Amino acid sequence: MKEVMGVIGFPISHSLSPEMHESAIKKLGLKMAYHAFLVQPEQLKQAIDGVRSLGFRGINVTIPHKVAVIPYLDEVDELAKEIGAVNTIVNEDGKLKGYNTDGEGFVRSLIERIGNIGEKKVLAVGAGGASRAVSLAVAKHGVKEITITNRTVIKGEDLARNCSRYTQSTSISLEDAARNLMEYDIIINTTSIGMKPEVENMPLSLTNVKKGSLVCDLIYTPIKTKWLKEAEKSGADILNGVEMFVYQGALAFERWTGEKAPIATMRKTVLRQLGG
Ligand code: ATR
Repeated sequence: MKEVMGVIGFPISHSLSPEMHESAIKKLGLKMAYHAFLVQPEQLKQAIDGVRSLGFRGINVTIPHKVAVIPYLDEVDELAKEIGAVNTIVNEDGKLKGYNTDGEGFVRSLIERIGNIGEKKVLAVGAGGASRAVSLAVAKHGVKEITITNRTVIKGEDLARNCSRYTQSTSISLEDAARNLMEYDIIINTTSIGMKPEVENMPLSLTNVKKGSLVCDLIYTPIKTKWLKEAEKSGADILNGVEMFVYQGALAFERWTGEKAPIATMRKTVLRQLGG
């Protein structure tokens, strides 16, 4: 009998996760399967009970359920609790434990690219759900400092306060961030600006970016956003959202299977789906 894993969301038909995980399962020859399930918000509790009663190994949770799912779990990992969102559930003998591998996936993609990040100065643009996951995970991993810049300053201040429990953290305005860009080794766009390049302006100009710094975007459609193209033009290295997506999946896969995730296979499958 195959162990079942999956992803729940609403909508879900465009999810890249089923093919990515199926390719990993096939690569390692595991007796497992991964499916996408469309779950309406009002059916979330029943769906989670189903994970328990049907004995699924675990599931990924995506929009709009990442926050709402928390009260239905038996246990929530500390980082996921702080982020306030769960994207991965593991079923241990009927007990469901929630994790957030989004932020940790981002950290792992950073380390794979540039090695030790302990001495890096980081700027995160945005202070919404995605930034919470990434900024808290980066702070908790340990960097020299993390600065949050956000259109709504009070939200940036709130997130910086949370991050300052782990490392030096402050909040600045978008204007100040643009002026002081040279100071940062890693700059991350966590906003969804860039998904519709024809109607949206970049969150801030990258002309002052330091040469050799790493500019990241969490967006993966398009694979190379206007923000990343601009960064490249200014002499920075770039990291696209495909990497974070692959690593968040890899960390979930490793929790469910106990196996090392076949990253190259997973990345290839995602890029093929994105037409890249
Ligand atoms: P997500 O879960 O994707 O992070 P979110 O929680 O709605 O989505 O957060 C969106 C983030 O993008 C916020 O930081 C938001 O800034 P505000 O807090 O000021 O709303 C930022 N954002 C969205 N559109 C923006 C725009 N046009 N200019 C600047 N920032 C924008």
